[in-house]
Amino acid sequence: MNPTSLVISWRLITLIISFCLINMGFARAQTRQSGNQFLTSELLNLSKDASINPISLWIDQGTQIWQKDCQGCHQDLNPIRQSVVEFPRWKKNQLINLEDQIIQCFAKKQSLGLNTESPDVIAVSTFLSNSAKGLKVQTQAPIDSIEKASWQDALNHGAQIYTLRQGRVNLSCTQCHDLNIGKNLRSDVISPGYITGFPIYRQSWQAMGSMDRRLRACYSGVQAAIPPTGHRDLRALELFLKSRSEGMIWEGPSIRR
Ligand code: HEC
Ligand code: HEC
Repeated sequence: MNPTSLVISWRLITLIISFCLINMGFARAQTRQSGNQFLTSELLNLSKDASINPISLWIDQGTQIWQKDCQGCHQDLNPIRQSVVEFPRWKKNQLINLEDQIIQCFAKKQSLGLNTESPDVIAVSTFLSNSAKGLKVQTQAPIDSIEKASWQDALNHGAQIYTLRQGRVNLSCTQCHDLNIGKNLRSDVISPGYITGFPIYRQSWQAMGSMDRRLRACYSGVQAAIPPTGHRDLRALELFLKSRSEGMIWEGPSIRR
């Protein structure tokens, strides 16, 4: 081979390799499966039928609270819908999620002493999550460069915890949610843990619960020390999981076993 044809064939090889890599990237992006794709057909039917879906009650209750306590300051629902797919956000030197924001807003109306799982907080969160259905998950780094660096640290912290072995059974999140997707664990089928539809109505809870509560349940599953509600580790994990879900369609409040 003369030098020119060597260069040409080398270019051809790199072209083919990068073409394959790009396609693998596409394939991966297209096959990302949300938790809904791991439901039994029974739960799937329940989630599709508003007349028997328990979530409907929470949406109704959330709508009432929204009209009574929130609409006065938030006439335009659009920025609020968008915020659902962007939380957790960096605010006053920490990450806050949707429920944290709702609690802060309740406080503006002198409703104090609420936490992430308070029924009123979860009901409004369910209503807002439902209103954001169909938008794309899109976490947002702060514009300010110092804040952005702290936000990036939090994201890295979340990624670190995700791969950290924990608890009596010594498992990391990634060992279930990346390495054992589709396998059965007790009566659950393990999903990749993307965040595309919270809060969730879990039959085992007989109630709606937040992302915070779901994550604590996973800590409990591996018999690790469970961080208290609102802990920075939980918010960092939520940011990490949501940034992995970037671009996926928001499915609104969801049913789980
Ligand atoms: C022993 C296996 C196991 C480990 C380890 C584990 N989980 Fe889970 N996780 C589950 C199972 C089972 C479910 C319920 C089925 C599902 O949705 O995957 C679940 C559900 C979830 C969900 C909800 C997904 C949905 O769509 O409803 C998220 C998010 C999640 N886990 C994150 C985590 C994080 C973060 C960690 C590490 C702190 C973790 N999990 C550790 C087994 C595990
Ligand atoms: C007294 C006025 C006021 C009331 C009442 C109020 N909010 Fe807010 N809300 C704000 C302000 C101001 C912000 C901007 C961020 C901040 O200061 O917390 C905000 C931000 C938000 C956001 C983030 C959206 C964004 O674009 O930043 C959400 C979600 C939200 N409020 C939900 C609610 C809910 C739910 C209620 C009812 C429980 C409520 N708010 C009641 C003033 C209010």
